[in-house]
Amino acid sequence: TDPALIRNFCIIAHIDHGKSTLADRMLQITGVVDDRSMRAQYLDRMDIERERGITIKSQAVRLPWDGHVLNMIDTPGHVDFTYEVSRSLQACEGAILLVDAAQGIEAQTLANLYLAMNADLHIIPVLNKIDLPAAQPEKFAEELAGLIGCEPSDVLRVSGKTGVGVRELLDHVVASVPAPVGKADAAARALIFDSVYDTYRGVVTYVRVIDGHLSKRERILMMSTSATHETLEIGVISPEPKPSDLGLGVGEVGYLITGVKDVRQSRVGDTVTSAAKPAAEMLAGYEHPKPMVFSGLYPIDGDEYPELREALDKLQLNDAALVYEPETSAALGFGFRVGFLGLLHMEIVRERLEREFGLSLISTAPNVVYRVVMEDGSELTVTNPSEFPSGGKIAQVFEPVTKSTILAPAEFIGAIMEICQGRRGQLQGMDYLSEDRVEIRYTLPLGEIIFDFFDQLKSRTRGYASLDYEPAGEAEADLVKVDILLQGEAVDAFSAIVHKDKAYAYGVDMAKKLRELIPRQQFEVPIQAAIGARVIARENIRAIRKDVLAKCYGGDISRKRKLLEKQKEGKKRMKMVGRVEVPQEAFVAALSTD
Ligand code: GTP
Repeated sequence: TDPALIRNFCIIAHIDHGKSTLADRMLQITGVVDDRSMRAQYLDRMDIERERGITIKSQAVRLPWDGHVLNMIDTPGHVDFTYEVSRSLQACEGAILLVDAAQGIEAQTLANLYLAMNADLHIIPVLNKIDLPAAQPEKFAEELAGLIGCEPSDVLRVSGKTGVGVRELLDHVVASVPAPVGKADAAARALIFDSVYDTYRGVVTYVRVIDGHLSKRERILMMSTSATHETLEIGVISPEPKPSDLGLGVGEVGYLITGVKDVRQSRVGDTVTSAAKPAAEMLAGYEHPKPMVFSGLYPIDGDEYPELREALDKLQLNDAALVYEPETSAALGFGFRVGFLGLLHMEIVRERLEREFGLSLISTAPNVVYRVVMEDGSELTVTNPSEFPSGGKIAQVFEPVTKSTILAPAEFIGAIMEICQGRRGQLQGMDYLSEDRVEIRYTLPLGEIIFDFFDQLKSRTRGYASLDYEPAGEAEADLVKVDILLQGEAVDAFSAIVHKDKAYAYGVDMAKKLRELIPRQQFEVPIQAAIGARVIARENIRAIRKDVLAKCYGGDISRKRKLLEKQKEGKKRMKMVGRVEVPQEAFVAALSTD
């Protein structure tokens, strides 16, 4: 295709503002999907995505419109996937900034807009859901115009649901989004903006060609790893993959298949070039995915450990950001230490393991990555509380911090500041977007955000606040490790790295919880919370004399036998912590209640 006839664009929006619904309408109106085979959220292929109504992996689809080729690139909407979003944007020249006409601008509207502006995209402001009775298009057109510096009359109005305004929007894309420019006779350079594992075809890599040309049966080179592969198939998606004998030229968006079986060999952000005539320089901005949040994952039934390993191996084929290594816990047995991009990523992985692989899992409380500097100048990176050095030789501890932006109606300013202050936030600034909506900016430790921050924010603002955060380096903090001890023996799964001011509350809370969950033993069992050798909280489980058989009056033999067998069954699921017998359920319950 002549690059002058190509328009590459994406739709950016806050979650639930209707991106997928609008994309569906575009598929229909351009005739790419006929009405009969249309189903809601056509582009969200994973079941879990469709059920939760969120887009996890971006996709690209080619839409013919008015003699032009429109490539619509779907971007993931959530903060955990900011890097993937930024690569998708890099593949476009324009962005539709979609805002719910009943809600107005939200935190991810802003975050995505800034990313799009950084990528120098032409922005098309659009209000969606104008069919809603609660829509306030006048008010929000003004808000949106103020934000991007245009006239309220420049803001388009559509309904993804009814289709109103969608044709005009497509015309507008053709008229206003710049055509791609690139050097047709230069060495090939294509940006990988997504790669997806497919059971039958191996990895499908989505690319945007910047310079040159990629062909079928060509040896290609991945510039970040220097690995070479052969393109077995190359083509465009419209809406199903369509192989093309012509390959892909300047400005085109499509996919290629090389037969590799692991997405880590085809990384988002990498540059594809020709092995025979390689480009001198890769495209800017490649980053290796970096896990930000770690948690232990254990099968509830210890026998399922091999299945868990196999499932993680399989998931990793499709998820280059997932990392894990084996870990053993006295309380929970054999499991894995798993690293995630953020909380949503963690939730998705867990849910896929349970749903697609039928595993029952218990996860330990998530933690961030700490950098510990010792007095002798040595340093260590801690991704697991159990690696946190005990003893007094620590000089400094650094934790990751975020630049967080919260948008909410002005009436909630007080509540929001209270939550942020209570989590060691530092106010950076506040702006009114309109007379009753504010943007509040805080520096907040990531470790505080991953701990039910979002839930609290939502409940204290009746669901009206939205949050976005991005990594902003690290900061020194007064952090300590709190251990939970049963009869003097630390239970690894409950150790946590917390701020000094919260150590006491954590210790008391955990000790109380365990006292209620652990059955009484033949002897008294002290439960203690401690920082190093210093005990900060204590509870006791009083002793009993376990005399179960006495209940049977010696009469009914079969009942007695049954009871003995049941006890034996129970024993198997008991974990020994020192001399203390703890049913695994107690650990599971203690970990899952918060
Ligand atoms: P992601 O999964 O993050 O992409 O969310 P999304 O922005 O795609 O939202 P989605 O398209 O799933 O729409 C969110 C909700 O809004 C759904 O319940 C839709 O039915 C509804 N919705 C979307 N567009 C419209 C619209 O134009 N009018 C009305 N009334 N409802 C809409």
